Amino acid sequence: MNSNFPNNIVRQKHFITRIKREKKYGHKSIVIWFTGLSGSGKSTIANYLEKILFKNGIHTYVLDGDNIRLGLCSDLNFTIIDREENIRRIGEVAKLMLDSGIITLVSVISPYIHQRKMVYKILGKKNFLEIFVDTPIHICENRDPKKLYKKARMGKISNFTGINDLYERPETADVHLDGTDSLQNSAKKLIKVLHDYNIISFMGID
Ligand code: ADX
Repeated sequence: MNSNFPNNIVRQKHFITRIKREKKYGHKSIVIWFTGLSGSGKSTIANYLEKILFKNGIHTYVLDGDNIRLGLCSDLNFTIIDREENIRRIGEVAKLMLDSGIITLVSVISPYIHQRKMVYKILGKKNFLEIFVDTPIHICENRDPKKLYKKARMGKISNFTGINDLYERPETADVHLDGTDSLQNSAKKLIKVLHDYNIISFMGID
């Protein structure tokens, strides 16, 4: 273990706190965590929701698995250990964003229940909304926007989620979305949850 940890590191306090930022922004901060198979529609829904939130003056950011794997996590692969580290880093970044007072939408497969539990522990229950984008694998495979299912079926990608690696369906997701439903319906459901949890004060999706 790093010899500086934990004794030689002291947490710094900042004058501008999350509560002050939330007051200034006029909404609460939360992490909306989308889990589901590749091609299930996580990023599409996250982007659609962000557009609505942004239009309504909410401060937002999307952390997308593919993009993060091009930078912060470009040293990681798709083994269980690397996937765990990928999710840990994203969870820690989301925690910083939580403190910055914004609504963060995370779109990552996060295939294992224990990974999502780890994030839940990093963020704390009240800061974390788990959204299951439930799309049957044959539909994801049919969509195959990045042609990765095809490659995985040909044996060109190992550990591909749903083909030769596990996806553990959430048992207790806060919101269960049908990934074949319209974007509008999915967004409506999510906006209502955010409203009911007192994160935002508006209800419509226009
Ligand atoms: S996670 O499993 O660690 O949560 P993450 O969401 O960051 O995955 O990245 C998934 C994206 O990487 C997929 O959308 C897909 O485009 C790409 N990808 C490349 N190889 C794999 C693989 N073996 N399994 C799943 N996705 C893969």
